[in-house]
Amino acid sequence: MNTCVVGLQWGDEGKGKVVDILAEKNDIVVRYGGGANAGHTVVIGDKKFALHLLPSGAIRDKTICVIANGVVVDPEVLLEEIDGLAQRGITLDGRLFISESAHIVLDYHKAEDKLREASLGDNKIGTTVRGIGPCYSDKVGRSYAVRMTDLLDLENFKDKLEKIVNYKNKIFAALYNAELIKAAEIFEKCKIYSKRLSKYIRNTTEYLHQEIESGKNILFEGAQGALLDLDHGTFPYVTSSNASSLGVGPGCGVPVQMIDKFIGVVKAYTTRVGAGPFPSELNDEIGQYIRDKGHEYGTTTGRPRRCGWFDTMVVKYAAKIGGINEIAMMHLDTLAGLDEIKICTGYTIDGKEVKMFPSNIDRLAKVKCRFETLKGFSEEITQAADFNKLPKQGQKYIRTVEEIIDLPVTIIGVGPGRSQTIFRK
Ligand code: GDP
Ligand code: IMO
Ligand code: MG
Repeated sequence: MNTCVVGLQWGDEGKGKVVDILAEKNDIVVRYGGGANAGHTVVIGDKKFALHLLPSGAIRDKTICVIANGVVVDPEVLLEEIDGLAQRGITLDGRLFISESAHIVLDYHKAEDKLREASLGDNKIGTTVRGIGPCYSDKVGRSYAVRMTDLLDLENFKDKLEKIVNYKNKIFAALYNAELIKAAEIFEKCKIYSKRLSKYIRNTTEYLHQEIESGKNILFEGAQGALLDLDHGTFPYVTSSNASSLGVGPGCGVPVQMIDKFIGVVKAYTTRVGAGPFPSELNDEIGQYIRDKGHEYGTTTGRPRRCGWFDTMVVKYAAKIGGINEIAMMHLDTLAGLDEIKICTGYTIDGKEVKMFPSNIDRLAKVKCRFETLKGFSEEITQAADFNKLPKQGQKYIRTVEEIIDLPVTIIGVGPGRSQTIFRK
């Protein structure tokens, strides 16, 4: 049985928690897209782990972790993560595989991300400044790209890097009047990356197919969320990869036909970091209440997340393009204490009903949300162990969402901890 877990909003839905839980019954967890822009949190008892590149199965010592070809790998962040886990007694030796085809984020990508965002002023995307866009641009552009396989042949890589840095410096000087990059400095760092990471690098496509044939259970871990998908999200306020489940095939070489179940992760409300339209956003004390109660501050950048009501137009669209079979709804506990809870049930533009979520931001800017209002619940639910233990209004909220999006909510989050999870048949 192969399963894919993917975010259905604008990221940070709680994928890390869901993947960590499901990893127990899987042999291998695969990250197939994004890079260190992701921040996936796993909470076990009083221990908290924030993972950016390692799959969220990393915390379980028997789980094989694969970073597939679709990921852009920042070796500095990855090594920090590996060392951080080692200090906490968790080793990745013998159970981490990184695709030889995965592209590498280097210092000049991060510098370019920063310079470009600064140059855009009010029009900036609000990226994580982790070099994601520049690295994926180099991948698509091909001629100046660097991949994990280059770390296996430093002799040839040295010359290649000099040509790349030469090219980048022309751009940096012309566009940004920026400080020049030194190839020698980057090469010194790459020598360390090569020394420490070579043992993990291999053909992960071949490996995954071999393991699928031998009957292993594989869990594919999406990064970001469907609305940040480069092709299907709210362009240009998106990330630079196919962050919906559509990215899984190109991102790791396993076709969707081989995946048995797609689980879409949502929050019981909506959040977004960075710029871009957000129809159900709450710029008021209720938004602030959710931000405070849900600790809605970015795992990667610490930025406050924008908060709003649950938007069924967003989730129906994301589920449709992602072939989603069931829903994991996290953060139900965060809604406790609100007198009323609203659900966005539809959009109109100039009084006309909108059929499907318009990813075109000019159309999206014109939508008016229609809301259904439910009574809230005052009881704290962080200890609720099954669905029947939830307050009636909490149950009603879940059932109402299920009805509108026409998908079952099979996993419910009532707190950040591994055990604060309700499973429904
Ligand atoms: P991801 O990027 O989708 O993995 O999500 P993040 O880790 O960036 O953000 C989700 C945040 O919500 C993290 O701080 C989690 O520990 C936390 N979290 C996950 N599920 C729940 C839940 O059901 N209730 C609460 N209160 N927190 C949760
Ligand atoms: P996880 O996996 C939330 C957002 C950024 C910005 C836009 C582009 O933790 O859910 P980028 O650095 O990718 O070029 O930024 O995408 N973004 C995320 N928002 N969660 C994420 O990942 C995100 N990864 C990127 O805030 O708006
Ligand atoms: Mg996150």
